[in-house]
Amino acid sequence: MKFKKIGVLFVCLGNICRSPAAEGAFKHLVTEKDLKEFFHIDSCGTAGYHIGEMPHELTQKVAKERGIILTHRARQFTREDFEKFDYILAMDQSNYNHLLSMAKKEEHKQKVHKFRKFDHTVSGQPDVPDPYYGGIAGFEHVQDIVMRCSVGLLDYLMEKHSYLNIPKTEEIEATEYDI
Ligand code: 4NP
Repeated sequence: MKFKKIGVLFVCLGNICRSPAAEGAFKHLVTEKDLKEFFHIDSCGTAGYHIGEMPHELTQKVAKERGIILTHRARQFTREDFEKFDYILAMDQSNYNHLLSMAKKEEHKQKVHKFRKFDHTVSGQPDVPDPYYGGIAGFEHVQDIVMRCSVGLLDYLMEKHSYLNIPKTEEIEATEYDI
């Protein structure tokens, strides 16, 4: 059997704080669950202020304290991302509105979600708060949120894509995957 990889893209404003933290947390989780090869995971920003930069040093520090090494370089969202990815997770309402305003097709709009939709500890889909102008406590808070939302997102995807639940056998391991 041949499965298409599930494309998951995390989006914030600058792509140096929240979305690389989310990318790292989700990659870490799917690696832990031995599901890495089923996914194509990336992050980007709606703005281009920090293109090419590594994540903010405090984003890197709090991730590393949880065993997550971030290697992403910032890039800006483009309309092609609507074709390349299946799930586009916006960190806040402003990112969400921006993405919807760029989506010209209904099918693309349907791919955009607020990430905190998958946070089972809150209702009403609040923002992942922007930690950029604050101290380390804000970065710690973001890290906790993105790790929690990653668990909720993976649960949702495992329910939606039943092949993620198939126990790995030699046959499954030999499967070819596309991007
Ligand atoms: P992020 O945080 O969107 O979570 O990466 C920010 C990073 C940079 C800026 C704003 C937010 N900035 O204005 O440069």
